[in-house]
Amino acid sequence: MEESEVYAAVGETGFRDLIANFYRRVPADTVLGPMYQGRDMSAAEDRLRGFLIYRFGGPVEYIEQRGHPRLRMRHAPFAVNAEARDHWLALMTTALVETSLPEEAKSVLAAFFHSTADFLINRPA
Ligand code: HEM
Repeated sequence: MEESEVYAAVGETGFRDLIANFYRRVPADTVLGPMYQGRDMSAAEDRLRGFLIYRFGGPVEYIEQRGHPRLRMRHAPFAVNAEARDHWLALMTTALVETSLPEEAKSVLAAFFHSTADFLINRPA
Protein backbone atom coordinates (compact mmCIF):
# COMPACT_ATOMS: atom_id res chain seq x y z
CA MET A 1 0.00 0.00 0.00
CA GLU A 2 1.26 3.50 -0.89
CA GLU A 3 1.27 6.24 1.77
CA SER A 4 -1.31 8.17 -0.30
CA GLU A 5 -3.71 5.21 -0.13
CA VAL A 6 -3.77 4.86 3.65
CA TYR A 7 -6.54 7.39 4.28
CA ALA A 8 -8.88 5.63 1.85
CA ALA A 9 -8.24 2.33 3.69
CA VAL A 10 -8.48 3.71 7.23
CA GLY A 11 -10.89 6.63 7.04
CA GLU A 12 -11.50 9.47 9.46
CA THR A 13 -12.82 6.98 12.02
CA GLY A 14 -9.70 4.82 11.91
CA PHE A 15 -7.43 7.82 12.49
CA ARG A 16 -9.74 9.07 15.24
CA ASP A 17 -9.60 5.72 17.06
CA LEU A 18 -5.82 5.36 16.64
CA ILE A 19 -4.98 8.83 17.92
CA ALA A 20 -7.48 8.59 20.78
CA ASN A 21 -5.88 5.29 21.82
CA PHE A 22 -2.45 6.94 21.73
CA TYR A 23 -3.36 10.10 23.67
CA ARG A 24 -5.33 8.17 26.29
CA ARG A 25 -1.99 6.82 27.58
CA VAL A 26 0.05 10.04 27.35
CA PRO A 27 -0.87 11.59 30.73
CA ALA A 28 0.25 8.48 32.68
CA ASP A 29 3.53 8.10 30.76
CA THR A 30 6.56 8.94 32.93
CA VAL A 31 8.37 10.86 30.14
CA LEU A 32 5.56 12.17 27.91
CA GLY A 33 3.09 12.98 30.71
CA PRO A 34 5.15 15.86 32.17
CA MET A 35 5.73 17.31 28.66
CA TYR A 36 1.99 17.63 28.17
CA GLN A 37 1.34 19.11 31.60
CA GLY A 38 -1.07 22.04 31.25
CA ARG A 39 -1.59 21.52 27.50
CA ASP A 40 -5.01 21.15 25.92
CA MET A 41 -5.03 17.40 25.21
CA SER A 42 -8.03 17.45 22.94
CA ALA A 43 -6.45 20.20 20.79
CA ALA A 44 -3.19 18.21 20.70
CA GLU A 45 -5.18 15.17 19.58
CA ASP A 46 -6.82 17.21 16.80
CA ARG A 47 -3.40 18.42 15.57
CA LEU A 48 -1.76 14.99 15.39
CA ARG A 49 -4.85 13.41 13.81
CA GLY A 50 -5.22 16.27 11.30
CA PHE A 51 -1.55 16.08 10.36
CA LEU A 52 -1.72 12.31 9.75
CA ILE A 53 -4.93 12.58 7.72
CA TYR A 54 -3.25 15.17 5.48
CA ARG A 55 0.03 13.23 5.28
CA PHE A 56 -1.69 9.96 4.29
CA GLY A 57 -3.89 11.17 1.47
CA GLY A 58 -6.93 12.64 3.23
CA PRO A 59 -8.37 16.16 3.49
CA VAL A 60 -5.85 18.96 4.02
CA GLU A 61 -7.54 20.87 6.86
CA TYR A 62 -4.38 20.59 8.97
CA ILE A 63 -2.43 22.64 6.39
CA GLU A 64 -5.22 25.20 6.15
CA GLN A 65 -5.19 25.65 9.92
CA ARG A 66 -1.51 25.19 10.80
CA GLY A 67 0.41 25.87 7.58
CA HIS A 68 3.49 23.81 6.65
CA PRO A 69 3.99 21.15 9.37
CA ARG A 70 7.61 22.15 10.27
CA LEU A 71 7.65 19.26 12.70
CA ARG A 72 11.26 19.68 13.84
CA MET A 73 10.68 23.36 14.58
CA ARG A 74 7.43 22.62 16.40
CA HIS A 75 9.13 20.00 18.57
CA ALA A 76 12.09 22.24 19.41
CA PRO A 77 10.59 23.39 22.75
CA PHE A 78 10.26 19.75 23.87
CA ALA A 79 13.19 17.61 24.98
CA VAL A 80 12.98 14.80 22.43
CA ASN A 81 15.85 12.45 23.26
CA ALA A 82 16.14 8.72 22.54
CA GLU A 83 14.17 7.90 25.70
CA ALA A 84 11.29 10.22 24.71
CA ARG A 85 11.29 8.71 21.22
CA ASP A 86 11.11 5.21 22.66
CA HIS A 87 8.20 6.15 24.93
CA TRP A 88 6.33 7.84 22.05
CA LEU A 89 6.85 4.81 19.81
CA ALA A 90 5.86 2.36 22.55
CA LEU A 91 2.55 4.17 23.09
CA MET A 92 1.89 4.38 19.37
CA THR A 93 2.79 0.72 18.84
CA THR A 94 0.28 -0.26 21.55
CA ALA A 95 -2.33 2.02 19.95
CA LEU A 96 -1.73 0.36 16.56
CA VAL A 97 -2.18 -3.09 18.09
CA GLU A 98 -5.43 -2.23 19.82
CA THR A 99 -6.98 -0.28 16.92
CA SER A 100 -8.82 -2.20 14.26
CA LEU A 101 -7.23 -1.14 10.93
CA PRO A 102 -6.15 -3.03 7.79
CA GLU A 103 -2.77 -4.67 8.49
CA GLU A 104 -1.19 -3.15 5.35
CA ALA A 105 -2.14 0.32 6.54
CA LYS A 106 -0.67 -0.43 9.98
CA SER A 107 2.67 -1.41 8.37
CA VAL A 108 2.88 1.82 6.37
CA LEU A 109 1.97 3.89 9.43
CA ALA A 110 4.44 2.06 11.69
CA ALA A 111 7.33 2.65 9.25
CA PHE A 112 6.47 6.35 9.07
CA PHE A 113 6.22 6.66 12.87
CA HIS A 114 9.64 5.06 13.36
CA SER A 115 11.47 7.23 10.82
CA THR A 116 9.73 10.45 11.87
CA ALA A 117 10.36 9.81 15.57
CA ASP A 118 14.09 9.35 14.82
CA PHE A 119 14.11 12.52 12.73
CA LEU A 120 12.54 14.51 15.59
CA ILE A 121 15.28 13.77 18.12
CA ASN A 122 16.65 17.17 19.13
CA ARG A 123 18.56 16.49 22.37
CA PRO A 124 21.41 14.16 23.35
CA ALA A 125 20.42 11.13 25.40
C1 HEM B 1 9.64 11.32 19.20
C2 HEM B 1 8.90 11.62 20.28
C3 HEM B 1 7.87 12.73 20.26
C4 HEM B 1 7.60 13.57 21.29
C5 HEM B 1 8.26 13.55 22.65
C6 HEM B 1 6.56 14.48 20.84
C7 HEM B 1 6.00 15.48 21.62
C8 HEM B 1 5.10 16.40 21.17
C9 HEM B 1 4.51 17.45 21.98
C10 HEM B 1 4.78 17.64 23.47
C11 HEM B 1 3.69 18.16 21.19
C12 HEM B 1 2.84 19.37 21.58
C13 HEM B 1 1.42 18.94 21.71
C14 HEM B 1 0.46 19.89 21.08
O1 HEM B 1 0.23 19.80 19.85
O2 HEM B 1 -0.07 20.73 21.81
C15 HEM B 1 3.75 17.58 19.86
C16 HEM B 1 3.06 18.07 18.78
C17 HEM B 1 3.01 17.42 17.58
N1 HEM B 1 3.65 16.25 17.24
FE1 HEM B 1 4.94 15.25 18.39
N2 HEM B 1 6.23 14.19 19.55
C18 HEM B 1 6.99 13.11 19.16
C19 HEM B 1 6.93 12.47 17.96
C20 HEM B 1 6.08 12.81 16.94
C21 HEM B 1 5.94 12.05 15.70
C22 HEM B 1 6.68 10.76 15.37
C23 HEM B 1 5.03 12.72 14.94
C24 HEM B 1 4.48 12.37 13.59
C25 HEM B 1 4.10 11.17 13.29
C26 HEM B 1 4.60 13.88 15.69
C27 HEM B 1 3.68 14.81 15.26
C28 HEM B 1 3.28 15.92 15.96
C29 HEM B 1 2.37 16.92 15.43
C30 HEM B 1 1.73 16.93 14.05
C31 HEM B 1 2.22 17.87 16.44
C32 HEM B 1 1.40 19.17 16.35
C33 HEM B 1 2.20 20.21 15.56
C34 HEM B 1 1.43 21.51 15.44
O3 HEM B 1 0.63 21.64 14.50
O4 HEM B 1 1.64 22.37 16.30
N3 HEM B 1 5.26 13.90 16.89
N4 HEM B 1 4.60 16.53 19.89
